[in-house]
Amino acid sequence: MIADLRGKTALVTGAGSGIGEAVARCFVEQGAVVVATDVNVDGVEQLAEELGRDAVKVVQLDVTDATQCAQVASEVAASHGHLDLLVCSAGVVLADDRELARDTPADWDQCFAVNVRGVVNSCEAVMPTMKSQGQGSIVTIGSISAHGARATLGAYPASKAAALRYTKGLALDLSPTIRVNAVCPGAVWSGMQSRILAETRRVVHALDPSVPLEEPSTDDETAFFASYQAITPLGRPQRPVDVAKAVAFLASDDASEITGQCLHVDGGAIIRD
Ligand SMILES: NC(=O)c1ccc[n+]([C@@H]2O[C@H](COP(=O)([O-])OP(=O)(O)OC[C@H]3O[C@@H](n4cnc5c(N)ncnc54)[C@H](O)[C@@H]3O)[C@@H](O)[C@H]2O)c1
Repeated sequence: MIADLRGKTALVTGAGSGIGEAVARCFVEQGAVVVATDVNVDGVEQLAEELGRDAVKVVQLDVTDATQCAQVASEVAASHGHLDLLVCSAGVVLADDRELARDTPADWDQCFAVNVRGVVNSCEAVMPTMKSQGQGSIVTIGSISAHGARATLGAYPASKAAALRYTKGLALDLSPTIRVNAVCPGAVWSGMQSRILAETRRVVHALDPSVPLEEPSTDDETAFFASYQAITPLGRPQRPVDVAKAVAFLASDDASEITGQCLHVDGGAIIRD
């Protein structure tokens, strides 16, 4: 067991894919009941079918809607009697960074609406319950891109930097009752990475129609792993489960003296200049 979550009720945003899905799986393995939310419920429905509807409760939730977030959190508290853990994994990346496209004003708005306001809305939604029950633990999913500069992809790292500052400020605000931490992954093969690849291919194809428009495949996953082998100290990119294990630890009582921290799960990528 990596972290004892028996008896805990967890709300996970973005649980329908990638890291959020892995967190939901890991939390169930560690004994929690997971309210698995996503704007698109296909993935969470599959998860509930697989893991059982006693362990996984499916709720459709768009984190950009503060009223919906508050409603879902209070319904969870009412039906389960407590709401102990929140993991904010819902996130978007909207443009390609290979000098083919630049973020548009709409990209900036959507990136900030989901990656920043979505985190704020989710955290604010659980605060009344966590404060009144006198305990709670929140983990936001950041990114190592919050720390570095990238030439053409402005909105995503800027949104991740903003959410990380918010996470740390919130840890101070909510101490000593509620702990708030972030896990910052490096590069993870997930729905997000395959969408970046598909978008890149669409842009390349639009510029040069002789380049075939192929959907991302397992060959691309293999190539993704190969491309990160040389540049990552530990020799590979991350898998969603690598991130989920760190989230489970920070969420659990084993991390009872840890708040306001950002744990990098990046194979050591951040320590390079
Ligand atoms: N994949 C990576 O390389 C990587 C690296 C660092 C950080 N991250 C971060 O990890 C988190 C999860 O990313 P992932 O790789 O699992 O991506 P993913 O695309 O596989 O999963 C993201 C999920 O968020 C959901 N979502 C999007 N908008 C939403 C909204 N408005 N309300 C509710 N749900 C919404 C999507 O439907 C999707 O299921 C994100 O915050 C992302 O920024 C990812």
